[in-house]
Amino acid sequence: MVKKIAVLTGGGDCPGLNAVIRAIVRTATHAGIEVIGVRDGFKGAIEREFLPLGLEQVSGILPRGGTILGTSNRDNPFAYTVVREGQTVQEDCSDQVINNLKSIGAEVLIVIGGDGSLNIALELSYKGLKVVGVPKTIDNDLFATDYTFGFQSAVETAQEALDKLHTTAESHHRVMILEVMGRYAGWIALYSGMAGGADVILIPEIPYDIQKVAKAVNDRKARGKKFSIIVVAEGARPLGGEMVVERTIAGRPDPIKLGGIGAKVAKDLEGLIGLETRVTVLGHIQRGGSPNTYDRVLATRYGVAAVDAVLAGEIGKMVALKGSTIATVPLAEAVNRLKQVPLDDQVLLAARKMGLKFGD
Ligand code: F6P
Repeated sequence: MVKKIAVLTGGGDCPGLNAVIRAIVRTATHAGIEVIGVRDGFKGAIEREFLPLGLEQVSGILPRGGTILGTSNRDNPFAYTVVREGQTVQEDCSDQVINNLKSIGAEVLIVIGGDGSLNIALELSYKGLKVVGVPKTIDNDLFATDYTFGFQSAVETAQEALDKLHTTAESHHRVMILEVMGRYAGWIALYSGMAGGADVILIPEIPYDIQKVAKAVNDRKARGKKFSIIVVAEGARPLGGEMVVERTIAGRPDPIKLGGIGAKVAKDLEGLIGLETRVTVLGHIQRGGSPNTYDRVLATRYGVAAVDAVLAGEIGKMVALKGSTIATVPLAEAVNRLKQVPLDDQVLLAARKMGLKFGD
């Protein structure tokens, strides 16, 4: 019987991380398992930054955004940035992670993360570390689960922004462009666009033709609607064009930081629509704040299921939502496979039937 486990949160934060941590600690404690928290993602496992987590430490954290453990989306133990003799170099510190966890008696590491962190977990499992994964990301782009926690809260934030943009767009007869996150997947744009009554949704999965976008706006104008709402996913790109990269950041599993497509769409629409445009980049507001009801429940179920997996000896697995059931899937099947919006997705098709345009 497992006596002690460790838990870390890795990658970009999202609403619901604390709810998972709380569920893990409560379930484990009731099962007689001690829990050790690792600070700041894999960095804490390399630098030996551990803290005991008991019922007291997780009391009151359910509604809190962020993560009480801290996180990092750049500290990959297989290529960890260190300074040696004045030089910044990248070293493989994966053995250090395994030895440090062993030294504190942690038998299993629960990794709450997105594709990057779960990939690291998988690599560590190949070296003998016992791991269990919990799928986290506002992007909802993990292949093996129907939903990641954090996604619905981010969508709600984007939808609230759209509701507000609507009233000012209508008053000023403007085209309002909202740039949302999601990396290489259009889930946040699609769901918030539908919930927020957008007229045009641009997603990475459907390269757009700016003339078609302009036509959608002009057709509305011809019907007396002198304003339009456009949601653009940060990973959207024009037909034959590229995604807009804000900058590249070394040392991250994915060094590309997207950003700027909203401004490009606005500029390219100039002269084609005869209406003023304004751009709002929603940014990290989508990642912050309290998880909504759906995410609190999903995160709690994931946390409980992760401890259940430990107790059942389901090592090297990730907990996942399949329909309305929580299941486990091999980590190896879950990572490195991007879940984009399929072109026959029902929400996408429903949006099309409603007359929403995707720039194609
Ligand atoms: O993966 C979550 C996410 O918020 C993406 O939607 C976005 O592209 C990226 O992280 C932003 O990363 P950072 O926190 O480094 O700006």
